Amino acid sequence: MIKKMKYDFDRITDRRGTSSLKWDVSDNELPMWVADMDFPTAPDIISALKDRVTHGVFGYNVLPEEWAPSIVRWWKDRHGFEMEADRLCFCTGVVPAISCLVKRYTNHGDRVVVMTPAYDIFYHSIENAGRQVYESPLGYDGKKYEIDFADLEEKLSHPQSTLLILCNPHNPTGNIWTAEQLAAVGEMCSNNGVTVISDEIHCDLTDPGYGYTPFASVSDTCANISVTCISASKAFNIAGLQSAAVYSRNKKLFEIAVRGLNSDELAEPNTFAAIATATAFGKCGDWLDELRGYLTENKRYAEEYIRCYIPEVHCVMSHATYLLWLDVTKITEDSDELASYIRNATGLYLSSGGQYRGNGKSFLRMNVACPRSVLERGLELLRRGIGSYGDAL
Ligand SMILES: Cc1ncc(COP(=O)(O)O)c(C=O)c1O
Repeated sequence: MIKKMKYDFDRITDRRGTSSLKWDVSDNELPMWVADMDFPTAPDIISALKDRVTHGVFGYNVLPEEWAPSIVRWWKDRHGFEMEADRLCFCTGVVPAISCLVKRYTNHGDRVVVMTPAYDIFYHSIENAGRQVYESPLGYDGKKYEIDFADLEEKLSHPQSTLLILCNPHNPTGNIWTAEQLAAVGEMCSNNGVTVISDEIHCDLTDPGYGYTPFASVSDTCANISVTCISASKAFNIAGLQSAAVYSRNKKLFEIAVRGLNSDELAEPNTFAAIATATAFGKCGDWLDELRGYLTENKRYAEEYIRCYIPEVHCVMSHATYLLWLDVTKITEDSDELASYIRNATGLYLSSGGQYRGNGKSFLRMNVACPRSVLERGLELLRRGIGSYGDAL
């Protein structure tokens, strides 16, 4: 029996003219780049926000009582990990948290290890603070990525390496790191006196049937050396509300984080941020589960389309995020140029891979969190762009 969907992810919502970063593009362009979704958020979140708007007074806020318990319950029920409610600190975003924490946990000139290719803003957080990015490239066999533990050990053991920024699940490759891999990373960091910031913002966007393992849940070692950044923003499409949380079981690391976030004025919620988060984690599990099913079907549809009609492109298989990481090695060594060509020739706006560093110069990133009909159009444009690229050279 086919299960009836309660939510309509096929419906197109026009985002033009809404000051959307993604959609602030020319009329002929189709943006499939930055990581937000073209779906309205869950109805319960919209209704909680409407109620708050109707109240009409928007003075200074404190965190609502249900904020921390909603997060604790969600992680316990969904991810089998019990966080202490008093070890959660509100922050206005994961990137603001990381930018602040890099400055608090490292000294000027230190090396911050990142497994690459990785979310490009990590590099800004590190370099803007006067620290050095120390890349540990993930191993790539032409099909999938793996941690190169020998390289990672070497990088972590450098005397100037004091911090690792881990992305779990990993953007842009979509890897969900296993408990064994995380435990090994934790041991290596601990042995080398390296603190870990685990960015788990994509953790609720796994395919149905696939879970993720919180880094801090793996072992006492991992819990003691780490700070975790979490948020409802990716999974519930509320990035514009600027809401995240920082967690650490390690009292000292947590207190340094709380002091840093407060003195950088990043720890106070706007009127809507915490309400949306508490409603998402408190009431919107069924919406998320339908969304995950829809996104997975979009990913499988796109992979199949690419296999059939654009065989020179290889789609790296993953079970997390709504981002396709497309290997264009057979077409170019400069995916920045290819992305610009596709955008100019067809209007399809993808992220070029170079900004993610590592071997990203041979990749494009495509965001498939949109109604199926939009995805179909995007794939057709991709096919046209790749097809004519050779002739245009
Ligand atoms: C890995 C990762 N971390 C953080 C962010 C952004 O977090 P925020 O909007 O909470 O600053 C993104 C957005 O794409 C991301 O992919």
